[in-house]
Amino acid sequence: MQLTTLLPLALASYAATQTQGLTQVLASQNSTLSMLNSLLATQPALTKALASAQNITLLAPSNDAFSKFISNPANKAIASDSAALMGLLEYHVLTSTVPASSFTTTMQFIPTMLMSSSSNSTVNINTTLSNVTGGQVVGGVKSGSKVEVMSGLKEISTVQTADIQFSGGVMHLIDTVLTLPIAPSMSVVDSSLTALAGALKNTNLLTAVNSLKDVTIFAPSNAAFQAIGSAATTLTEQQLAGILEYHVINGTVGYSSLLTTGLANESFPTLAGGEVKIENVDGKVFVNSAQVTITDILVSNGVMHVINNVLNPSNTTATPIPTATTQPIAFTGVSSASNVPFTSGISATTTAPSAAMETAGSAKAAAGRVEGNIGAVGVAALLGVVAAFLIW
Ligand SMILES: *[C@@H]1O[C@H](CO)[C@@H](O)[C@H](O)[C@H]1NC(C)=O
Ligand SMILES: *[C@@H]1O[C@H](CO)[C@@H](O)[C@H](O)[C@H]1NC(C)=O
Ligand SMILES: *[C@@H]1O[C@H](CO)[C@@H](O)[C@H](O)[C@H]1NC(C)=O
Ligand SMILES: *[C@@H]1O[C@H](CO)[C@@H](O)[C@H](O)[C@H]1NC(C)=O
Ligand SMILES: *[C@@H]1O[C@H](CO)[C@@H](O)[C@H](O)[C@H]1NC(C)=O
Ligand SMILES: *[C@@H]1O[C@H](CO)[C@@H](O)[C@H](O)[C@H]1NC(C)=O
Ligand SMILES: *[C@@H]1O[C@H](CO)[C@@H](O)[C@H](O)[C@H]1NC(C)=O
Ligand SMILES: *[C@@H]1O[C@H](CO)[C@@H](O)[C@H](O)[C@H]1NC(C)=O
Repeated sequence: MQLTTLLPLALASYAATQTQGLTQVLASQNSTLSMLNSLLATQPALTKALASAQNITLLAPSNDAFSKFISNPANKAIASDSAALMGLLEYHVLTSTVPASSFTTTMQFIPTMLMSSSSNSTVNINTTLSNVTGGQVVGGVKSGSKVEVMSGLKEISTVQTADIQFSGGVMHLIDTVLTLPIAPSMSVVDSSLTALAGALKNTNLLTAVNSLKDVTIFAPSNAAFQAIGSAATTLTEQQLAGILEYHVINGTVGYSSLLTTGLANESFPTLAGGEVKIENVDGKVFVNSAQVTITDILVSNGVMHVINNVLNPSNTTATPIPTATTQPIAFTGVSSASNVPFTSGISATTTAPSAAMETAGSAKAAAGRVEGNIGAVGVAALLGVVAAFLIW
């Protein structure tokens, strides 16, 4: 064949790539994305919607990402549950076009296609996959030269190939499947916040908190509960419930980006009735006098931040001391206990966000963690897909 006949063909195919639809682009990347393509093929309604969607971003997990994902037994429920799989795939679609150049060193929270109404999953028991107005979000951040996406339980996915254009938007290949945000009751256990988990259980508040919409939960660390450990035996169930409800803002999802800007220095009503005040001082975020030490554990119905003191709804004078490394406890007449209270019968289910080791805003701290906690999505079908893939 002669060069003269090849050249126009090459040019024609180059021109075509400029306007290719998502279907064509996914097919052209099939050597890297065959598992994603197989999974999309099981969801024809979603695939059809994506093919004609405008201004979207597809976070496309590579075959390696899916292999890693399904190698974890905890993820096995996902593929057997069509609705959960659909939810997982929808979570990988941002509802705006977000090129790599628009990621910044401050984490931004970007809505996805995962909406409360869009899934009938039975796998993520006790909750829908998302009860967040405007869609469940991912965190997008630039970390050095890397573009990273944070999902549930502070999972970090790194963009490997950015800005693959298609007519409806842009696609980024990622190295790790996103983790679906799960219910608060499950997230606290998965985040080793066992005292809070036990306290919520003892006061029968798990279902109430799980079924709210658009929440911000301030989650005291185990050390925070231990510091007021003597109260564990003196508080009535009703008093403890009142204290816990004071940690939940109902109706506002306060991601870290908002705590340091639009929501800073404002007061918010809690489930308990009283208000908590958020303050942003000297680069630290406080709620009343407790400091936020781990930000942005995305949960099915909002966001959770770990704090280093238990909040006291009866203490109207608790104010932060920004220069102090630790804050005084907000209760009088209580002392610390030798054991973490409320943890009887509660055990952390995974190694997920190790509360003790991460610091506020440090998405990087969670990087590299092999996560197995899609407590949400199921697996038999996915295993079927994978088995077929491996045979190839
Ligand atoms: C992608 O590759 C797999 C085998 O690896 C094949 O079964 C499938 O048909 C291919 N899909 C497309 C869209 O080319
Ligand atoms: C896509 O975004 C562009 C630029 O923001 C806007 O002009 C256009 O109307 C959007 N299209 C759709 C279908 O939303
Ligand atoms: C979910 O279930 C409801 C009622 O059974 C049904 O009307 C709806 O179409 C389902 N939604 C999806 C996305 O399957
Ligand atoms: C889910 O709800 C059931 C009862 O409906 C309860 O037994 C179980 O503990 C709940 N699980 C979680 C993780 O909240
Ligand atoms: C979502 O939140 C609303 C408002 O609190 C609640 O009525 C609804 O039951 C929640 N959905 C689920 C599935 O928990
Ligand atoms: C939470 O807020 C919603 C919307 O404002 C309200 O309808 C609901 O009653 C509140 N729930 C509780 C338990 O206060
Ligand atoms: C919040 O108040 C502190 C002083 O208490 C101030 O330094 C900071 O700039 C304020 N932040 C916002 C966003 O208003
Ligand atoms: C309120 O909290 C502060 C710590 O911020 C503490 O010093 C004070 O003793 C507390 N007051 C009461 C009445 O519990």
